[in-house]
Amino acid sequence: MPPLGAVFFEKMQSFKGRDILDINDFSKDELLYVLNAAKEFDPEFVKSKRSNYTLAQGKIAALLFFEPSTRTEQSFSSAAQKIGMGIIGFNDPKATSIHKGESFSDTIRIMDSYADVLIIRHPESGSAKKAAEVAQIPVINAGDGPNQHPTQTLLDLYTMMKEAGKLDGITIAFMGDLKYGRTVHALSLALSHFKVKQIFISHSTLKMPDEFLKVLKERGVAFEECDRLPESLEADFLYQTRVQKERFKDLDEYKKVKDKFILDASFKKYLDKGVKLMHPLPRVNEIDPVLDHHPNAIYFKQARNGLYIREALLTLVLGRI
Ligand code: CP
Repeated sequence: MPPLGAVFFEKMQSFKGRDILDINDFSKDELLYVLNAAKEFDPEFVKSKRSNYTLAQGKIAALLFFEPSTRTEQSFSSAAQKIGMGIIGFNDPKATSIHKGESFSDTIRIMDSYADVLIIRHPESGSAKKAAEVAQIPVINAGDGPNQHPTQTLLDLYTMMKEAGKLDGITIAFMGDLKYGRTVHALSLALSHFKVKQIFISHSTLKMPDEFLKVLKERGVAFEECDRLPESLEADFLYQTRVQKERFKDLDEYKKVKDKFILDASFKKYLDKGVKLMHPLPRVNEIDPVLDHHPNAIYFKQARNGLYIREALLTLVLGRI
């Protein structure tokens, strides 16, 4: 990883005022740049007891959560406060004038005039982009339905970089709901910038969609598909996902596949061999909590890394580093 410094300062301008809507808007250099910036907020890299409280003091983050969240909302709130920002917003649109019929655009226009950054989660694809078309200030997409969740992808990349010490040369296996999982689609494409082998493990009805596999082929990415967890999995990371009940039109189809790719205590042998287990969370039953204390079960560390990525992104879009 290149050190921060002159290059860092030079590139700072490109993030100031920028919307963070789609991970595909990031070049490889920009991805690495944000990952490097996150190290500046991570106590594992910054040993001093320095406070970042004055970095964005006087600035306001508006958290507009039209859909439930634990990690994204709370880590953005924590990240903003750690760099000195004030917080406004809502996580229950019924408690706002949307309940009286106010439009999405008017809501965004109003919040735009009260804040310096808008952070939006919404169930509809394209909603963050729509907000960015109305807002004058930077908009950060905190998840727009099945479409994108770019800060999740950045924290996933950061976790892999931290754990493996590199991205080039690693192998990642994705498992579970590869059809509807936005985290899988976005992470797979982001990793296609690096020399990373990708293994897709799923039921035939939840396969990685062809449109994504086509892009991987065009980019020369080595990948393979399997319909079960291989006995000897040659991978640095297994990225497990939840089968998302809310995305199925036919509940019988959901019931057929929901328990097909559960990791129980027997997965310990893979962890013992060095496979690191990731999951964007929340989980339902797809990882047995008995695995949680294994040092290679890293999903809680992964969620914590979201704090450093979000501190870095807020500071970057405000032009404060
Ligand atoms: N991973 C993730 O986005 O979690 P939340 O839905 O709790 O924010």
